[in-house]
Amino acid sequence: MDHFTDATLIDSWYRNAEAWGAAVRGARIPSRVRVTDGAIVDAVLSSRPRTVLDAGCGEGWLCRALAARGIRTTGIDAVPGLIEQARQGGGEFHCLSYEDLAAGGLPGRFDAMTCNFSLLGKESVQTLFRAAPDRLQPDGSLVVQTLHPVFACGDRRYRDGWREGSWDGCGSGFADPPPWYFRTLGSWFCLFVNAGFALLEIREPLDPDSGRPASVIFVARPAAAVR
Ligand SMILES: C[S@@+](CC[C@H](N)C(=O)[O-])C[C@H]1O[C@@H](n2cnc3c(N)ncnc32)[C@H](O)[C@@H]1O
Repeated sequence: MDHFTDATLIDSWYRNAEAWGAAVRGARIPSRVRVTDGAIVDAVLSSRPRTVLDAGCGEGWLCRALAARGIRTTGIDAVPGLIEQARQGGGEFHCLSYEDLAAGGLPGRFDAMTCNFSLLGKESVQTLFRAAPDRLQPDGSLVVQTLHPVFACGDRRYRDGWREGSWDGCGSGFADPPPWYFRTLGSWFCLFVNAGFALLEIREPLDPDSGRPASVIFVARPAAAVR
């Protein structure tokens, strides 16, 4: 897996932007429809934000869902084809990578930042975490939904590293799945703490059929705000 990098991950999203938009908008990913879409909306709403930055927004569904509840949303994504789709649905979207965000590409602070299955890389994710405190109000929330490490590990060793991707469960029309960087639960914890966040909550939304977690959701706040 040595050949996988953050750049190969983004290349794959360029190639799959159209299929991804069709899958999300066509509600073709059962785990999202059944569990994880509602779970991230509930988790974000729990801190009652008035403004939300959605990092790695894809075609923008989460911004639209939060805007429908009266929240002012801004979405960023590195892939122009996804940002174009997002803009067609209305709302504020910018074509920015996490590196661009860290370099000051988007001014202002938000009540909450959310990342829904969008923290898939290695260095790019570390960069986003370093940038996050400056994009949040002092008592703002960082809400991250991702694959549950214990259940996404499969037969592989339980340790950090690049993994081959798969479009299983996403429907048709996809090519070359993006690789993703697996992190153990302990590594996720370190990402938050090393960036100055305190973890307030870990949610494990259950799939009603299997009774297993469909994902994990981390809710964090700058540590200075919870002392
Ligand atoms: C699985 S999709 C999730 C999209 C959206 N959050 C959703 O819930 O449908 C992952 C998204 O993360 C974005 N992404 C991954 N790495 C990124 C980076 N370094 N900068 C900006 N966007 C990134 C991809 O372009 C893609 O849109």
